[in-house]
Amino acid sequence: PSNGLAQLPPMGWNSWNHFAGRITAADVRGMADAMVATGMRDAGYTYVNIDDTWEGERDAAGHIRPNAKFGDMAALAAYVHARGLKLGLYSSPGAKTCAKFEGSFGHEDDDARTYAAWGVDFLKYDYCGATLLYPVTRENQEALFRRMGHALRNAGRPMVYSLSQSGEFDIWRWGPGTGANLWRTTPDISDTWASMSQRGFRQLELAAWSGPGHWNDPDMLEIGNGGMDTDEYRTQMSLWSMLPAPLLAGNDLRTMDAATRSILLNREVIAVDQDPAGRPARRLQKQGDVEVLARDMADGSVVVGFFNRGDASASVSFAWHRLGSGFAGTATVRDLWAHQSSPAGDAFHGDVPRHGVVLLRLSR
Ligand code: DGJ
Repeated sequence: PSNGLAQLPPMGWNSWNHFAGRITAADVRGMADAMVATGMRDAGYTYVNIDDTWEGERDAAGHIRPNAKFGDMAALAAYVHARGLKLGLYSSPGAKTCAKFEGSFGHEDDDARTYAAWGVDFLKYDYCGATLLYPVTRENQEALFRRMGHALRNAGRPMVYSLSQSGEFDIWRWGPGTGANLWRTTPDISDTWASMSQRGFRQLELAAWSGPGHWNDPDMLEIGNGGMDTDEYRTQMSLWSMLPAPLLAGNDLRTMDAATRSILLNREVIAVDQDPAGRPARRLQKQGDVEVLARDMADGSVVVGFFNRGDASASVSFAWHRLGSGFAGTATVRDLWAHQSSPAGDAFHGDVPRHGVVLLRLSR
């Protein structure tokens, strides 16, 4: 049975992409403060997720403790909750985690109860560390992921359950049966155009497996980490919102520049990701390097994305009648990055920057 959580793709922040093993409790507090101060919380970002390297030793009774970087996890959860946010934590089904810290193997029930007692709201469970213990087979993964899914359901506190592996064994087919709300579908993202675009566009083929309560996860956002340009980061925000996918920022929220803020805080694009209908985008066509995606919104409007995967600017023409009846002629079109509305006319004619996107919402 499902836990009823994540009816929309989870939104928040995760420590790994920017901090990796350097994350500390002070950074997490700073991130919670920044989520409030920047307006991210009010825009819908909720989860403050600590990835690998928080784990300490087990005590004499076998209960997991945080390491010296974190000290008091219940106090940290209280700090995050006091700001209207939720806390996420990380573990592995192995004896060790991916970064060789203490894992949950053989302690699943006890760890889930400990997380609940601390006030944890989200668990990322990463198979990577378990490969030392078990050969990587679908049966082993499924059994171990299911074991923690069961433990979380019995822990007495609702926790979003997020699986991490590399998209092996078509996890999207069996992920829901483990009790998970989301599962990674690809290897780790990096802060490059090639990595981001391969992971993102690949999701279109998996759309049928994703929906309310059970989402494909093409990994966290790299927006603001410096390896891509503004058009490329707009593409990540737009594509993840069209799929739709979880929006977990992965940058240092305390030091965001104006361009980064304008992308992560674009409420019109966030509204696409968080559309209550939760319907997936469909690929209408590929015009040369330009992918044309469309997504039906709950209010009857349609969001169309022209994504240019090529290395040069592309000019695009697209007749609205291809979206179905009611869009040609009388519709209004809203440009979700330019924040401008205009009559739609019969067609879109425009240029899309290299690696960039034009994202339009059409209302009948
Ligand atoms: C591998 C995962 O895919 C990453 O997202 C991160 O959680 C690291 N492991 C942590 O060790």
